[in-house]
Amino acid sequence: MSKINTDAGMPIAITLDPGTYYRCSCGQSQNLPFCDGSHSAAEHMPIEFKITARQKVYLCSCGKTGKAPYCDGTCGVKM
Ligand code: FES
Repeated sequence: MSKINTDAGMPIAITLDPGTYYRCSCGQSQNLPFCDGSHSAAEHMPIEFKITARQKVYLCSCGKTGKAPYCDGTCGVKM
C-alpha cells in the first residue's frame, strides 16, 4: 500500500455497513479515510474494498500494511 499518513501510525477503527468503499491513499481527501475524488492521476489511487456484513474494521493509516486497506499489525499495534 502506498503512503497515507505516516504521522498516524495507528489503525482507524470504524464500523461499516455492507457496501463498496474506497480507501483514500493519496491523503488529499476531505472525507478521510475514504476517497472523495481529490486525487489527481497520480500514483496514489483509492483502494476499493467490499464489506458484506456490518462489521468493525481496522483500516491501515501508516501505509506499511501488506493487507491494504486493513491494518496487519506492521505498525506495532496488536489487535
Ligand atoms: S496502521 Fe498500518 S499496519 Fe497498522
